[in-house]
Amino acid sequence: MQEKLQKIKDSFEKKLKSIKDLDSLDILYNEYFSRKAGEMTNIMKSLKDLSGEERKEMGALSNTVKTEMESLFENKKQELENKKWETLLETEKIDITQPKLPQERQGSKHPVTLVHETLENLFTSMGFMLLDGPELESDYYNFEALNIPQNHPARDTQDTFFIKGNKDMVMRTHTSSVQVRAMQKYGAPLRAVVTGRVFRNEAIDASHDHTFYQMEGILIDKNISIANVLGTMKELLAGVFGREVEVRLRPGHFDFVEPGFELDMKCLVCEGKGCGACKHSGWVETLPCGLVHPSVIESGGLDSKEWTGFAFGLGSSRLVMQRYGIEDIRLLHSGRLDFLKQF
Ligand code: PHE
Repeated sequence: MQEKLQKIKDSFEKKLKSIKDLDSLDILYNEYFSRKAGEMTNIMKSLKDLSGEERKEMGALSNTVKTEMESLFENKKQELENKKWETLLETEKIDITQPKLPQERQGSKHPVTLVHETLENLFTSMGFMLLDGPELESDYYNFEALNIPQNHPARDTQDTFFIKGNKDMVMRTHTSSVQVRAMQKYGAPLRAVVTGRVFRNEAIDASHDHTFYQMEGILIDKNISIANVLGTMKELLAGVFGREVEVRLRPGHFDFVEPGFELDMKCLVCEGKGCGACKHSGWVETLPCGLVHPSVIESGGLDSKEWTGFAFGLGSSRLVMQRYGIEDIRLLHSGRLDFLKQF
């Protein structure tokens, strides 16, 4: 029996040496140790047929051999597992020294986004909150609540896109649609700005597009006057252009402000000489503004005897053109990479 044990151990050791993966190791283990037919198991089972003294001796010996074989097995297993992790690490290695992607593939912010970010930072620093509103808007918030009833001629200046089968919904023609929403939601006092996309059924040319961007501002408080509007508008333009910009003020009519103004700025693309961006007038209509009409304050659920306010609507697409010297508004939506890569 002693001889037999030695043989088993030798053959096990020999076979173990040639094993290269964990699966084959498992198979080998079973060959010797499986409960039913393992060679070592059979030996252990046969011990019970031996007589007293011999059984004791052989029992001890087989146990030693068994332990030795098991420890050989464990070592091999460990070795194979380490190897497995090493290969995994090797194949899944990430080269952190890989160079940065080339500049063209990184993308950049759209010029409209850049200008909106500047404006939003400027106004939040003055205590305004940033609001959003739906682009598909109810006729009520876009027109009615702003003092522009059905069939009012003012609707002709803001021809929009209507929705088939629902005449109460329109693509908003201006961000002023958020004025009454803001008052209803936050009450007074209120300071809010809204940047976003607006839509008009326009004849398209270098300074008109069917989709463009605006920033609305609304402030509701006690005893607000034109001086407050002007001060804020000057701050706005200085903030965007980083210098004082020449402006002029004209009376302007908007149904939701009284009095209403058009604030124009001297064209920065041509410095006032006249170009495509300013319709060859040297001036750019930039900032319609005025004091919020009492009936709009009432639509917002506030008492117009107690509360006053100002509002302005900035054509931010126009401002983008001024800031970057872009002569054609259509470039903003052109998707042209040679244009966009400049920002
Ligand atoms: N919503 C107006 C427009 O788009 C602009 C405006 C806003 C005028 C706020 C006055 C006050 O033409």
